[in-house]
Amino acid sequence: MLRHKLLTAGFCVLFSSLTVAVAANQKDGSSGSKGDAAKGKETFEQCAICHNVDTDEKKMGPSLKGLFKRQKLANGKAVNDANVLEQINNGGNGMPAYADMLSADDKANVLAYLHTL
Ligand code: HEC
Repeated sequence: MLRHKLLTAGFCVLFSSLTVAVAANQKDGSSGSKGDAAKGKETFEQCAICHNVDTDEKKMGPSLKGLFKRQKLANGKAVNDANVLEQINNGGNGMPAYADMLSADDKANVLAYLHTL
């Protein structure tokens, strides 16, 4: 009987710590989006022909190093997921529009990657 109670208690502890771990993991989405930065980095290879990410030097397009640490985009809009996504979707001024070229997942992943720069 006692053995059974101990076992049950053990399971409860195990279960609640698992729940906490999962909750902590979800909170850790520092980017605020659900994208996968590692996958986004692969997708970004097609952007890297025009954008530097490890120097401030401009290629065809502006460097994206520290993008989300900036106040504003080149177009004067605030740097946030919605406005960066808009730039990716619409392109313009020499940047291709990616609205139909990338899936919603690809875009979320690229956004997550851009947050790491
Ligand atoms: C053919 C070259 C080219 C490619 C490929 C390209 N871009 Fe661009 N990108 C540009 C240019 C040029 C601008 C500047 C547009 C402007 O000044 O309005 C720009 C602007 C941006 C900006 C805004 C930067 C700022 O400081 O305001 C972001 C973010 C961006 N691109 C992300 C991407 C992503 C993500 C991809 C890949 C999915 C990509 N670009 C692919 C040329 C490119």
